[in-house]
Amino acid sequence: MQESGKNPQHIGIIMDGNGRWAKQRGLARKFGHREGAKAFQKIVEYCYDLGVPYLTFYAWSTENWARPKDEVDAVMNLLRDYLNRDLSKIRQQVRMRFIGDRGALPQDIQQKMAEIEEKTASFTRTTVNLAVNYGGRAEIAAAARRLAQQARDGALDPADIDEALISANIGTAGQPDPDIILRPSGEKRSSNFLLWQGAYAEMIYMDVLWPDFTPRHLDEALAEFSRRNRRFGGI
Ligand code: FPP
Repeated sequence: MQESGKNPQHIGIIMDGNGRWAKQRGLARKFGHREGAKAFQKIVEYCYDLGVPYLTFYAWSTENWARPKDEVDAVMNLLRDYLNRDLSKIRQQVRMRFIGDRGALPQDIQQKMAEIEEKTASFTRTTVNLAVNYGGRAEIAAAARRLAQQARDGALDPADIDEALISANIGTAGQPDPDIILRPSGEKRSSNFLLWQGAYAEMIYMDVLWPDFTPRHLDEALAEFSRRNRRFGGI
């Protein structure tokens, strides 16, 4: 890790490039996602060892449902396998949280998510948010709906709606905003990821495809972050 003061408290990662990785090898896209899930596991373990307090991974967006059914099923099955893993056999004691609208996910996955959130709630070293059926705009709209309802019920004065209250009503409530949003695969877009939280995140784009992403690439991103001069709108 970098010298203190430069250590990111929260890293967001867009796991992009699985499809291209598979295509380059003449394989079906689902094999790219399988390797992507392995890279996810490795990077979680590495960040746990480094002591990164918060990580958010973009696994499935609100727009990804438009993909062919076999690809949707493959990613849901990878997610299911991951959720069914025996936690007692995993060395890392990672707190898991799931952000996004889980109401549209298969029922068994929703149940497992709730169970894992409960089972890992006491772990404090590293929290991993897995964004599934997630969209930044949808998340902000949901917060607006909730606050509007409270105002209509007389429980909230609209004049009290400020940035802190929005932050407290989105998936990452209580967590620091991401210092870094990292996108491998060469694409340079935010793709509706952490729109609210990422207002001052350093965007780091890397040319590697996600299944090929290793701890060395994370080190490179951390080194790049330590060279950036963050001013938060000041001078
Ligand atoms: C983006 O690459 C990746 C996805 C839409 C799915 C990511 C899912 C995983 C890595 C597996 C999730 C499971 C766990 C356990 C984390 P792409 O398919 O858009 O790649 P392309 O741009 O090269 O086509």
